[in-house]
Amino acid sequence: MCGIVGYAGRRDAAPVLLGGLQKLEYRGYDSAGVAVFEGGSLHIVRKKGRVKELAEALSLKGNVGVGHTRWATHGAPSERNAHPHTYGKFTLVHNGIIENALALKEECIARGEKFSSDTDTEVIAHLISWFYNGDFAVAVRAAAKRLAGSYALAVLCADFPDAIVCVRMKSPLIVGKGADGAYVASDLPAIAGEGVEAYALEDGDIAILRAEELSLYDGDLRPVKREKMQYSCREDAPELCGFRHFMKKEMAEIPVALRRAPLSAEGGNDGLAEALCRAEFIEIVACGTAYHAGLCAKHAFEGLCRVPTEVTVASEYRYRDPIVPRRTLCIAVSQSGETADTLAAAQLARERGAYLAAVTNVAYSSLTRMADAVLFTQAGREIAVAATKSFNAQLTVLYGLAARRAAALGIAAPPLEGLSVAAEGALAAAEGVRSWTPHFLSGKSVFFLGRGADYCTALEGSLKLKEITYLPSEGYPAGELKHGTLALIEKNTPVVAVVTQAALAEKTMNAVHEVYARGAKVFLVTSFAELARREEVTAAVVLPPCPEEYSPAVAVIPLQALAYYVAVARGNDPDKPRNLAKSVTVE
Ligand code: AGP
Repeated sequence: MCGIVGYAGRRDAAPVLLGGLQKLEYRGYDSAGVAVFEGGSLHIVRKKGRVKELAEALSLKGNVGVGHTRWATHGAPSERNAHPHTYGKFTLVHNGIIENALALKEECIARGEKFSSDTDTEVIAHLISWFYNGDFAVAVRAAAKRLAGSYALAVLCADFPDAIVCVRMKSPLIVGKGADGAYVASDLPAIAGEGVEAYALEDGDIAILRAEELSLYDGDLRPVKREKMQYSCREDAPELCGFRHFMKKEMAEIPVALRRAPLSAEGGNDGLAEALCRAEFIEIVACGTAYHAGLCAKHAFEGLCRVPTEVTVASEYRYRDPIVPRRTLCIAVSQSGETADTLAAAQLARERGAYLAAVTNVAYSSLTRMADAVLFTQAGREIAVAATKSFNAQLTVLYGLAARRAAALGIAAPPLEGLSVAAEGALAAAEGVRSWTPHFLSGKSVFFLGRGADYCTALEGSLKLKEITYLPSEGYPAGELKHGTLALIEKNTPVVAVVTQAALAEKTMNAVHEVYARGAKVFLVTSFAELARREEVTAAVVLPPCPEEYSPAVAVIPLQALAYYVAVARGNDPDKPRNLAKSVTVE
C-alpha cells in the first residue's frame, strides 16, 4: 500500500515529488519522505505523519529524486522507518512486502552489515549494494531476483545522480515521459497532470529514467515496448469543489454514478455475454465493501435468474483450494482493481477454468489487464478511504448482469434506470440522519440489523461506521440476534434496522421489538412509511420508491451519511481514517 514517486528531468524535483505524493496519500499516510540529488549529493527529508510535513523539502534544488508516502507493514510508523532507505550508494522507495526479508537480513548481518530501520525495505538497499559492480540496472535486477513477495521500487545510486532505476513485481508502477523529463509513480493520477505519455510496467519490468529518455526492459534487461495508456485529464487529482470532505462529495456523486453504471452493465463483449448466459455457477471474489456488493448481488443472481452464486472474501478464496465447477463465471469486484487478495483470488479462479469478469472503477488497473472481460463502474475517481459511490455503482453493474441473464431466460427484471432518481431522493432524506448523531457518540457498540438483502446492506453500514468513527459495530442477520448477540443490548444501545424487503419486513420488526424491549434506541431505514411510525422507532429515514431487488444501492445511502456525520462529530477525518489506506496492494 504506500505510494512511490520519482522524477528525473529539468525542473526542480521536490515540488513534482510532493505534488505526486499528495495525490498518492490515499495509499497510506503515516509517514513520508523524499530524496533529491542536489549538486551530486543526496538530501533526504523524512517525517512521521502526512506529506504536508515534508514542506521543508521544497527548498531542495535538484532535478532528480524519489518520494514515498507510507502505510506501515514492517516497523511502526516513525521517522526511522519512513522511506527513502539508504545503504551504501543506494537510496530507494518501495511499495509492497518482502516476504523473505528476515532471511535476507540475516545474510546481510552475517556479512557484517548494519541496519538502521525495522522495515523489510532496507534489506533491498543492502542487496543492491552487494550485487553492485558498477552497473546500476544490473545490480537492481540481481537484487530483485532474490526478493520474494511484492515490490515496486524506485532506486537512486550515488554514482548516477542523473538516473532512477525502477522495477516491479505484483505491485503497480506507472512510468511516463513528458517534455521536461521522466516520471514514475504507483498510480497514474500522480503523474497524469504532467501531460506525460504513460506506460504500466509489467511484472519483472525494469525502467531507467533520465531527463532525456525513458527506457523500458524486461526482467532480462532486453528492451521491451509497453502499450501507451489512454487517459484523460480527469485522472488528475479531483478537487473538493466546496465540499468539506471527499467522502461527502463522493456521496453527492452517487446519482451521477448510477446514471452511468447501467451502460457498463450492458457492455463487456461477446465472450462475457456467452459466459454469463452459459454460467452454471457464479463465484464472486472481493474484499471489504466490494465483498458486500457481491453479497447483495448474490440475492439478485439467485432471486432473479436462479444461478447458484457464492461470494467469498478474496483472502480466504486464494488459500482454500477452491472447487471451480464447469461453466463457472468468476466476477472479481474491486474499486481500485489493485487489491492484492482480489487479484490473487481472480487469478486462481481463472487458472482453474473460470471465465473472469472484472467489475472495477479503474480502467488501467492490474485487474483489468488480467480479466477476460471488464465492466467499468464509471463512478469517477474515489479519494475517500471509505468507499461510497463505487459501492452503489458496483451494485448497479452487478444488478445489470443479473438482469441480462434474466432477460436471456425470458424473465423481465425491473429496469435499473430509475435507481439514479431514487438515489437522489435517498440523499436528500439522508440529511435527516445528522440529528441521529448524539445517540452514536457514547462509544457504545452499534448494531445494524436486516434480513435477506437488507442484511447485506446492514453489513456495509456497519463497516462504514466502524472504519471512520472507530466505534465497535456489528452487522447482524435480524433473525440470528436471539442466538447470542441480544446479550449485548442494553439501555440506549444504538440499533440501526434496514427494512426494504416486503416479505421479510415484519420478521425484521420482530427483532426490532426485541431490542427495544431491552432498552435499545432503534433507528430505521425503510421503504415502508408506516413502519417509521411504530413506537419502537426513535427516528427513521423513509426511502423513495425503488425495486426491492435493487434496494441496497439506495438503502445504503443513509448509512453512509450516518457514518460520515458521526465521524465528523467525533472529530475524525472521514477521508483518512487511522491505520487504513484506500488500496490494499499487499496481503
Ligand atoms: C471500504 O470502505 C474500504 N475502505 C475497503 O473495505 C475496500 O472496499 C476494500 O479494501 C476493497 O478495495 P477495492 O474495492 O479497491 O478492491
